[in-house]
Amino acid sequence: MVPILSRRIAILSNTVADQIAAGEVVERPASAVKELVENALDAGARHIRIALENGGKTALEVADDGSGMGRDDALRSLDRHATSKIVSATDLVGVQTFGFRGEALPAIASVSRFTLLTAESAGEATEVSVTGGRVNGVSPAARQQGTTVTVRGLFFNTPARRKFLRSVSSEARQAWEVVATLALAHPGVGFEMVIDGRVRLAVPPDQAPDARLSAVWGEDMVRTLIPVSWAQGPVKVTGYIQRPGDAKPTGRRVQLFINGRPFRDSFLVRAVEAGYRSAIHPGDRPSIFLQIETAPDQVDVNVHPAKLEVRFRERLAVERALEEGARDALGTLAAAAPVGQWSGLAPTTPYPGAPADLGPDLFGDEGAAIDPGGPASTEPRGFEAPILQLFDSYLAFESAQGMVIVDQHAAHERVLYEEVMAQLTDVGVAAQRLLLPLTIELTDEELEVVEVHAAQLERVGFDVEPFGARSVVVHTVPSPHPRFDAAACFRELVADLARGRFGGWANRLERFAATYACRAAVKAGQSLSDAEMRELLLRLFASTLPPHDVHGRATIVQLPREELERRFGRR
Ligand SMILES: Nc1ncnc2c1ncn2[C@@H]1O[C@H](COP(=O)(O)OP(=O)(O)OP(=O)(O)O)[C@@H](O)[C@H]1O
Ligand SMILES: [Mg+2]
Repeated sequence: MVPILSRRIAILSNTVADQIAAGEVVERPASAVKELVENALDAGARHIRIALENGGKTALEVADDGSGMGRDDALRSLDRHATSKIVSATDLVGVQTFGFRGEALPAIASVSRFTLLTAESAGEATEVSVTGGRVNGVSPAARQQGTTVTVRGLFFNTPARRKFLRSVSSEARQAWEVVATLALAHPGVGFEMVIDGRVRLAVPPDQAPDARLSAVWGEDMVRTLIPVSWAQGPVKVTGYIQRPGDAKPTGRRVQLFINGRPFRDSFLVRAVEAGYRSAIHPGDRPSIFLQIETAPDQVDVNVHPAKLEVRFRERLAVERALEEGARDALGTLAAAAPVGQWSGLAPTTPYPGAPADLGPDLFGDEGAAIDPGGPASTEPRGFEAPILQLFDSYLAFESAQGMVIVDQHAAHERVLYEEVMAQLTDVGVAAQRLLLPLTIELTDEELEVVEVHAAQLERVGFDVEPFGARSVVVHTVPSPHPRFDAAACFRELVADLARGRFGGWANRLERFAATYACRAAVKAGQSLSDAEMRELLLRLFASTLPPHDVHGRATIVQLPREELERRFGRR
């Protein structure tokens, strides 16, 4: 038994309790900014001005033109659990205000030199100054209706916390993000943020939500987004996600809202990403701006001290709605892409010499159902027309609708990805036995990858055996195309998997298939024979989701005949 310490239980003084609470609510200048701006929004402000000095370490200030407070309320607002926003616990269900705990002001005031200047009506203002949680002055003052909170010397009396602050630029950036998020949540409110004397964000009140998004995220970013609108069961999802081809591994922006309240949830972000499936490069992270709406009693907003996270009753329903919403948006994108209808793009007849059963049926029921243009378009033309290889990288040919340009690497990657997925889950591929086996030296991580993926490697055609402590011997290799370099492909494939370059695939098989497809595909810069080009195109047009490669980049670009005619003044 552990001896019970014979200590008296003492009630902490309010100041100490506030400081402890401050540890949870106020972690850095950005969190103080967040609390103060949220208070201004809760007070119905139309304009909010935020100023930061030295990343907020020296001073930060939030001024609003909201309801303001009279003298008594101003003093009361600094008491713990003083809130005007809820009365009983049941009010928490579907609470509309940001604040409800009555903790923020006393917490911030307990770890700073704090001034509250507030007026319920113009002229009759009260100024309260607090140092480290102790009120040391209350005086009448002048101010328009509204409130200004100034916080100097944040954490001056809690050096341990001060030490954890990051660089000025990092603190300033985080504060900016906080303001940006709240500005996105409230397009009706004007915001101005000044960091060390420079205006870093300025948006007027009464902005339309889309205009606000453009103003905060920038036109360039917003141009890469596509709309999402999806309802599934009790969950509605609207907003934007990034086009697959524009997503990058770094620098993305993510903003989720639940019933108008911004929150964070990396699992929900992943659910959105899952909606991209193979349409995106596994390392790329799309930007996301999504509003989730559901009945208020389905969400608990009181689970995180800084209210950054929420809890859902039916989490799975939310995840599903996000994934399906993203998939739906991307599906629409594929349909709306300039490549036009899939079937219309496909050459109208098989290339000469193709076995008879590779007729139009090859293009599937879809091809038959969407007859692009009556008898004229089914006239034998298609692949009898020459295929031109441009820059040893692109294949150009004529289709019923215009000129089609295919990226040879992207196309081959797409084709291989689907074939490999089939091989991995069904029968393996026939491999070529090497007369002289390859011996390949690998790092520890790479050896582990080979071990973990032994079965998949074999299915795509690599028969691999350990050799000594650091090497493997490769007995058989696949042969996806005539210029295939088996040793290079094997090395790159294993290195990619070891480095996690293709991370982010929920499914290990998909990840393997995407990595293999990327490395095994014919590369840009390799010249192809006529027969090879025809073969590749035929396989591409037999695959599904052809407008994108596994990285989400375009595989096919089309120049419609009407466009040519328009440009040459024939129309
Ligand atoms: N800018 C402001 N304008 C008008 N009233 C304010 C302002 N800031 C704070 N108040 C008043 O002071 C009270 C206390 O604010 P505080 O932020 O400490 O708590 P809260 O917002 O109620 O809850 P939480 O701790 O969850 O933020 C608020 O309930 C509100 O009545
Ligand atoms: Mg508050």
